[in-house]
Formats: sequence, C-alpha cells, structure tokens
Amino acid sequence: MSRRRKLVAGNWKMHGRLTSGLSLANELVQRMKAHRNLTTEVVICPPFTLLWPVAEVLSESAIKLGAQDCHPENHGAYTGDISAAMLVDMGCRYVIIGHSERRGAHHENSDLVARKFAAAQQAGLTAILCVGETRAEYDSGKKNEAVETQLRQSLPEKFTAANLVVAYEPVWAIGSGVTPEVSEVEKMHRHIRKVLGPVGEAVQVIYGGSVTPQLAESYLASSEIDGFLIGSVSLNADGFWAVCEKVG
Ligand code: PGA
Repeated sequence: MSRRRKLVAGNWKMHGRLTSGLSLANELVQRMKAHRNLTTEVVICPPFTLLWPVAEVLSESAIKLGAQDCHPENHGAYTGDISAAMLVDMGCRYVIIGHSERRGAHHENSDLVARKFAAAQQAGLTAILCVGETRAEYDSGKKNEAVETQLRQSLPEKFTAANLVVAYEPVWAIGSGVTPEVSEVEKMHRHIRKVLGPVGEAVQVIYGGSVTPQLAESYLASSEIDGFLIGSVSLNADGFWAVCEKVG
C-alpha cells in the first residue's frame, strides 16, 4: 500500500459563469459534508473570475481551491496575467502549470513552466505540473523520452514532494474519450518517479485525460496512480463526485 495521499482535482477550464460556478461549488460542498470519511484530497480549479466567490463557498469545507495557471513573476507590467501571490490572496492552495492547452495554444515551453513552478513554490502553492506525450510521440514509441525531457525541463532547480503533484496527461487522451491501458499508465508513473529521483516515491502522480468514474475505478487497481486530474467530467457534480467516491 502506498502511503501517498490520493488526490482528485477538477480543472474547469474556461467554463462557469457566476451562477453556474457557484451552484457547482455548492453542490460539491454539500456532498463533501455528507461524506466525512472521504480521505482523498479534493481540489477544484475554476477560472480566475470565480476564484474569490468560490473561495467563499469553500471556506468551511475540506475541498481546496486551485487555479489553472500563474505568471512566473510576482508583479509587474504584465497585462492580463495573474501572479502566484495573487492566487494565494484568493485562497488558492494549488495551481495547475504546464497544461498541454497552455503549452499548445499559448506556446509555453518547459523553461517557462519551470519558472512558473518556482514562483508557485515561493508563494506557498502546490504545483500540479502537467506532462504528457503527443499522439505522434506515442505512436513512434517515444513517449518515455518525451515525458522525461518535458519533466526534467519543467522542474526548477529545487523542489520537494510537499509542493509538487505531477499530472501525467497524454495529450491524445485529453477530451478524446481514448485512454491508455492501466498498465501503460502504471509504467509511465513509475518512470516519472524515477526521473524525479530520491523524492519520487513521495510525490503524488495523478492521471488526466478523459477520466470518468468507470475509468477511475479500473485505474485504481494500480497503486502507482494517486488520483486524477479531471476536465469535462468535473463540470458535473454527479460525475466528479462519483470519481471522488471511487478514490475513497
Ligand atoms: P478531460 O480533460 O478530462 O476533459 O479529458 C483533462 C484535462 O485537460 O486536464
């Protein structure tokens, strides 16, 4: 049995207006209250605009707040950006960094991701660092090298297991309904731990990409999988909660 705590995080992406976002957060708070024996850490990552109102909803709850990105600097002339310290002000404990949608659409390279990680760490946030191979890398049998390179380059010089969660998210599995075999994920999580070095065994490594309650149940057969980063299913209280309950 692994001694790492399980973690389920919902990435709302660019979804949720004030009314719908608050109602989703409220529903989750009610479910958490009704399941006091849940031991998994539950995190929700709404868009920036909802952080403050959702933080209020979560204030009495064990559910933690996370953001979806941060800037590597603390403050400055960076129009449209948000710093890690600002996220702390909003009540965040976690921040997703290096998501493939940011690496892709915003051309974020791993050097930038490493600087974001360092900023998150300095602000006292736990970084949920996303890594994952593309379909072409998977098909050509290069997924281990691809993830290893991305991971090594995305880590700052110093980090500890306490402020790092690695989310293994094969790019081709995100939003596609196509997912790797549990044995493949298990091997990749082991590989990630090896790349992380001595702290690897203590770092939570979670899986993301088309996670459903059914998939979660089958993946939990592996003790290498410490939980899930969930996109579309996290927008549905029943679906998200079903995953949290499976994790336990
Ligand atoms: P998905 O997204 O669950 O909708 O595939 C996962 C993610 O992008 O983190």
